Amino acid sequence: MKFFIDTASLADIQEAQDMGILDGVTTNPSLMAKEGISGDKAVKDHYKAICDIVDGDVSAEVISTDFEGMVREGEELVKISDQIVVKIPMIKDGVKALRYFSNKGIRTNCTLIFSAGQALLAAKAGATYMSPFLGRLDDISTDSLTLIEDIRTIYDNYGYETQILAASVRHPMHIIECAKIGADVMTGPLSAIVALLKHPLTDIGLQQFLADHARVNQK
Ligand code: G3P
Repeated sequence: MKFFIDTASLADIQEAQDMGILDGVTTNPSLMAKEGISGDKAVKDHYKAICDIVDGDVSAEVISTDFEGMVREGEELVKISDQIVVKIPMIKDGVKALRYFSNKGIRTNCTLIFSAGQALLAAKAGATYMSPFLGRLDDISTDSLTLIEDIRTIYDNYGYETQILAASVRHPMHIIECAKIGADVMTGPLSAIVALLKHPLTDIGLQQFLADHARVNQK
């Protein structure tokens, strides 16, 4: 399973990269705004800075909602780095843009996926990745993991190569359950990734090892 971090924070990206477990980064306009990044040049410079930290794919989202605008923005974004994946919303013009970029060999991430039907469309349009939002479905009392299972089944039935990128991950159980189902990628905040390593018995065990070592080595 590939691990992406869902943030535009250079500090968080660097921390995950330093752990040696990071395969890529996803961003969205809200995450860029959270870091105070605005204006075309600043946005592009920020994507470049992210690409310089991480070795893998970096999703950069278009703002346009019409086909021509998405194509124009996407073609500009991929000039920043070979690592850039154009993030496109699941709307009608977005599906058209996914097909356009796929035909040109430009990689895409179809975002804002909340149903199996949308996932099927993204795959048929040739998306490289598609991002079902787990946390936001759970927020409205809808079982997000059933959706991941359904998409896995549909993609396996027909051999679609579009990768399931489980997004809007909020906690470590989302990651573990997605790994059990067979999502190809998960993207989440640093807190969810770091939470995977926490176990009270690890902490108690380590304290005991260090205390025993110190006791005999003080003599
Ligand atoms: O980047 C898309 C997605 O991961 C957003 O997550 O937590 O804002 O629902 P969240």
